[in-house]
Formats: sequence, structure tokens, C-alpha cells
Amino acid sequence: MTIITVLPHPETCPDGAAFEAKPGKTLCDALLAAGVEIEHACDGVCACSTCHVIIKEGFSSLSAADDEEEDQLDKAWGLTATSRLACQVKIGDIPLTIELPRYTLNHAREHD
Ligand code: FES
Repeated sequence: MTIITVLPHPETCPDGAAFEAKPGKTLCDALLAAGVEIEHACDGVCACSTCHVIIKEGFSSLSAADDEEEDQLDKAWGLTATSRLACQVKIGDIPLTIELPRYTLNHAREHD
């Protein structure tokens, strides 16, 4: 099992979280199973950017994003060099620390 640490996010995860997840699972599924209600508007088919996360630790252990993921990420709010779509990240053996961006694209629109 691999330890996943989530930094506090004011709405989705106010106290932060740390849990164990099975390698091979997607990060999005693991977060939802652990009760971290990350948005996932397209249900994990890489057609939105609402599951955007920033990998603070463990980024280099992940397999690289493909073109489809990069295209969606380009639309994400608050994109960083270590941004990924949680539904496209397969958990490996290396622990991950992630940050949930302050807004998703959906929220950014609502706040316009
Ligand atoms: Fe839509 Fe991840 S849930 S891209």
C-alpha cells in the first residue's frame, strides 16, 4: 500500500488527509474512496480538468502525462509544472503528497 497525503483545502478537505491506497488504482478513485470529494465531472475519462491536482511530492515517480491529459491540463485553473489530472495518475509504490487547487474550472466560472 502507498501513503497518499492531501494538504488541507478550505472546502474539500479542511484538515488535510493521509491514507493508504493500492498501487494501480487511479489517484481520483483513491481520493474518493478515502472520502476526499474531489470533483470529477467527466467521471475519469480525461475530458475535463476538474480533477486537477498539484503533486507536491512524488511527481517524478509517476509515468508522464499523455497528450490528451496535457490538453485538458492546459485548461485547468492554476496550472503548475507538477499539475496532473487525478483520474489519469496511477498510484505506484512511492508515497505522494498532493495539493488540491483553490478552484476548479467549474468554480472559476462561477466566481467570474
Ligand atoms: Fe475529468 Fe479527470 S475527471 S479529466
